[in-house]
Amino acid sequence: MSGVGGGDVVGPDAAVADAEKTDRVADSDAIATETILNTFPHPILLLDENDGVTYANPGAEQFFATGATQLCRSRLDDLLPYGSPALGLVQEARHKRSVMSEYGLDIGTPRLGQRLADITVSPVIENPDCILFTLRENSIASKMDRQLTHRGAARSVTGMAAMLAHEVKNPLSGIRGAAQLLEQNANTDDRVLTRLICDETDRIVGIVERMEMFSDKPIDHQPVNIHRVLERVRQVAQSGFAKNVRFQEIYDPSIPPVLGNFDQLVQVFLNLIKNAAEAAPASGGEITLSTAFRHGLRLAVPGSRERMKLPIEIGVQDNGPGVAEEMRPYLFDAFVSNKSQGSGLGLALVAKLVDDHGGIVECADAAKGALFRVMLPMDES
Ligand SMILES: Nc1ncnc2c1ncn2[C@@H]1O[C@H](COP(=O)(O)OP(=O)(O)OP(=O)(O)O)[C@@H](O)[C@H]1O
Ligand SMILES: [Mg+2]
Repeated sequence: MSGVGGGDVVGPDAAVADAEKTDRVADSDAIATETILNTFPHPILLLDENDGVTYANPGAEQFFATGATQLCRSRLDDLLPYGSPALGLVQEARHKRSVMSEYGLDIGTPRLGQRLADITVSPVIENPDCILFTLRENSIASKMDRQLTHRGAARSVTGMAAMLAHEVKNPLSGIRGAAQLLEQNANTDDRVLTRLICDETDRIVGIVERMEMFSDKPIDHQPVNIHRVLERVRQVAQSGFAKNVRFQEIYDPSIPPVLGNFDQLVQVFLNLIKNAAEAAPASGGEITLSTAFRHGLRLAVPGSRERMKLPIEIGVQDNGPGVAEEMRPYLFDAFVSNKSQGSGLGLALVAKLVDDHGGIVECADAAKGALFRVMLPMDES
């Protein structure tokens, strides 16, 4: 910058202009800093020398589910689990006067549920006892990865499904027809057997038809009101498999339409709600359906420059025991089930249909029960 001290000879007017310019730069610096911190999507806290919070950006408000005013009345150890290594990291950074990072720290609390994050703590240059505490939750990135891997899994059954549907359904209808013919002349004992043949072939046709849904038939996508989808699914569920379950709805009524296919979306949420109802306790079972609009949710697709904008988020949460740890890595794979009567196709189909919508589905960490979150694109026409 030219000006005072820069070696130039300056008159009084030029000096005033320069001072004004310096003020403007300082002002715009302050605005820029504040704006940048507020815009930064990850949580940021500024800590004083006693770990008291003196600033919290909106990312931090969202992460800790607490307003900035309240956060600024807290100390870091009020926000993190007891004895969290992150507290030691802050002490160390203060002591060494250098930036420190730690990856994959568990910073979950009973209130926030289980959460993993990468943490970076940086001493402030002007006052190294004050610390800039930033964290980056790794769940979405790692889950995206997992989700995209599941897409491959869903795809691999696509071709097989089409082949099965074609090859198996025809002979099955022959077998069923023959059993019905035999039934006409059969005695009572044999009729039990012909009935069994019919019932079992019907069951196989049912499975094959579910498999058929994996095929890549072109489907119309139109603006769909997601609340109408959820309403339909709730009606179907409550008149059948979820008769004894209490539903709770936390909806954002202003949510814009999703770009998708009504029937397929019904299928997605029917499968998720069926799992939730099966996991919920027989008495006192509860399912919470929620919708929200997330302005900023843009996800990078690994291995490509593409960014997915998925602002519409739908949650299905139950009050069952949660997803078994050993099931988690394979949850969305076909034929994975720990239920005696389960085919393990429910979530594979969910992953396939959500993928066809350009969305993602994840099994999120929840304080209680299981929480499945579906994120979908909005209709922008
Ligand atoms: N809400 C949930 N709570 C706990 N575990 C779940 C939940 N949803 C799914 N799972 C686990 O994921 C597995 C796979 O689910 P998926 O819907 O694909 O198959 P399934 O329910 O076992 O069989 P199907 O849906 O074909 O009847 C389940 O067997 C169960 O272990
Ligand atoms: Mg299921």
